[in-house]
Amino acid sequence: MAEYTIAVLAGDGIGPEVTAEAVGALRAVERRSSHTFTLREALVGQAAIAVEGEAISDATMALCQASDAVLFGAVGGAGVGRPDAKAQPENALFRLRKELALFANVRPVRPLPALLGASTIKRETLRGVDMVVVRELTGGLYYGKPSEIREDSAGAVEAGGASAVDTMVYSEAEIERIVRYACELARGRRQRVTSVDKANVLSCSRLWRRVAERVARDYPDVTLRHLLVDSCAMGLIRQPRDFDVIVTENMFGDILTDEASMLAGSMGMLPSASLGTRMTAHGRFGLYEPIHGTAPDITGQGKANPLAAILSAALLLRYSLGLTRAAEAVESAVASVIAAGYRTPDIATARGTIVSTGEMGAAVAERI
Ligand code: IPM
Ligand code: MG
Repeated sequence: MAEYTIAVLAGDGIGPEVTAEAVGALRAVERRSSHTFTLREALVGQAAIAVEGEAISDATMALCQASDAVLFGAVGGAGVGRPDAKAQPENALFRLRKELALFANVRPVRPLPALLGASTIKRETLRGVDMVVVRELTGGLYYGKPSEIREDSAGAVEAGGASAVDTMVYSEAEIERIVRYACELARGRRQRVTSVDKANVLSCSRLWRRVAERVARDYPDVTLRHLLVDSCAMGLIRQPRDFDVIVTENMFGDILTDEASMLAGSMGMLPSASLGTRMTAHGRFGLYEPIHGTAPDITGQGKANPLAAILSAALLLRYSLGLTRAAEAVESAVASVIAAGYRTPDIATARGTIVSTGEMGAAVAERI
């Protein structure tokens, strides 16, 4: 019997709705085991800006630091393009990722057999797809300085208007640790790593390739190939079975995982784990979130798919709490509700019944 502390940051939009169902799954695990989960809720994103004046407060950061893991919903919506970073809900995510040193974002893509018909991609193409995208999460364009709009024309290529700059920067150490993580992961899978870059254009990518080559020499059992990001984008829908582990920089990973989520039928099916180096008493500290956003168009209507959030809770159980059997129980409960025909609108198929967010969550919890 063990006790675990989990920070729960539900956030904005559909974040609270889907997180409630992920919490429901954790409570079901608790009831069927001897473990105790202490859940500590806090505000994040737009919700925190409204009440606490910033996207994430120091107190909430401290709460996360003091927990075994963080369960995260979604942030954003109203603030896109705000000039003041403090008033931008996404800033909460960036701060959490950076200050908790969550450098490895792991996004598994394995379409459930019963959902092949929910994807816009052909069944034959989807059958047998099983990949993990490892996205570098604390570097690159998301954090490089300078990053600003320059209202005066100084520095503009053509005088007379504003200009803007973003900076992509990667160090050898940053590349090495993420490629190493991907190689370790591949060892427990099909031993194939695809490193994705844009080495025909970007210096960061040329360094990335060099470091990836060097790191891979420590893993003779793992086959490394390099792929340009545009070619990878095509390959993901042309021949997705070709991929085992993909490792790539921050923004390429962001874009490619939205694309890859379509293989699983919907963004509402894809969980993620953001992992760092800190070890807790039970595993590796991490933050767990569905890859989808706040979906303002369906917020509050009971239409959101909670499965990505629930599957994120499963990853939390596995990686941060070391509860492998509980993680598997949650994952098979999800597979079982899908096989039984429960569908939220985003994954509607010919032979399925449309249910609400809450009904889907309850159906999963019942089967755990
Ligand atoms: C993601 C999201 C975030 C990102 C947004 C909300 C800032 O798209 O986690 O993939 O770009 O990292
Ligand atoms: Mg994204």
